[in-house]
Amino acid sequence: MRHLMSPLDFTTQELDRLFDLAGDIERNKAKYAHACDGKILATCFYEPSTRTRLSFESAMTRLGGDVIGFSDAGSSSASKGESVSDTIRVISCYADICAMRHPKEGAPMVAMEHSLIPVINAGDGGHQHPTQTLTDLLTIRSLKGTLGGFTIGLCGDLKFGRTVHSLIHALVRYEDIRFVFISPEELKVPDYITEMLKDKDIPYEEVTSLEDVMPCLDLLYMTRVQKERFFNEEDYIRLKDFYILDMAKMELAKPDMLVLHPLPRVNEISVEVDKDPRAAYFKQVQYGVYVRMALILTLLELA
Ligand code: NCD
Repeated sequence: MRHLMSPLDFTTQELDRLFDLAGDIERNKAKYAHACDGKILATCFYEPSTRTRLSFESAMTRLGGDVIGFSDAGSSSASKGESVSDTIRVISCYADICAMRHPKEGAPMVAMEHSLIPVINAGDGGHQHPTQTLTDLLTIRSLKGTLGGFTIGLCGDLKFGRTVHSLIHALVRYEDIRFVFISPEELKVPDYITEMLKDKDIPYEEVTSLEDVMPCLDLLYMTRVQKERFFNEEDYIRLKDFYILDMAKMELAKPDMLVLHPLPRVNEISVEVDKDPRAAYFKQVQYGVYVRMALILTLLELA
């Protein structure tokens, strides 16, 4: 039985197969409309989410399966003191596959160890968010045609942003990728990530000015400042509008640079950018459903 805890749980060849399957789903939706008939997905979300949870629910529904679950810890037995390991033992009797989000780093791994069904990490604290990474990789592969040979700028909250941490880990396995980390001093990418890049001899730079690096980027991954992970409101207020991508900055960029964002957006991309053909963040949402459909089929061994 396989689970998905980190994007590295799949080899790059397995990811290619997953993305090919997602592409086939996109082109032949009717072929998959009953692929999960009789199967149940449990969404166990101990932390607020709309898009990831709905994306999973949409994916399972489009495959013909059913969905059960809870969307905040208060409405689950966690509020009565039940452990994650007990919860998953119970959920294993109700469902065939489980997507779990938890504010504590590592909680989905604990669930995996006690589970009788495949568990998908749908985001654990500031740690990892592997299905967002699958979404990001599929978007890049589909719109750029390849997963290598580019300079990617990651901008915003690189300290707490789990989507950033997952994406960097996944991208280092591809050829000829250069990273530009754009953040205020307080929100720099954690040391364990820069250490990993140094060990692997992968080029990266850390800067604070977005304008200065715009012309050299092939991809720009914008992120929201992660309010819920701040210890102090004043720091959040000081940093939340540090970067705002607007059309003036887009004019400095390459004509084929893509802008990605895991969403939700707060202020970091002005709405005027949405009309620019380089804005790919809403297409990314659509790819997220196809890739989750492909993942569910793969983990249930139905594809
Ligand atoms: C991200 C997350 O939850 O980490 N959202 C998402 O899943 N699409 C990004 C964020 O909340 O900023």
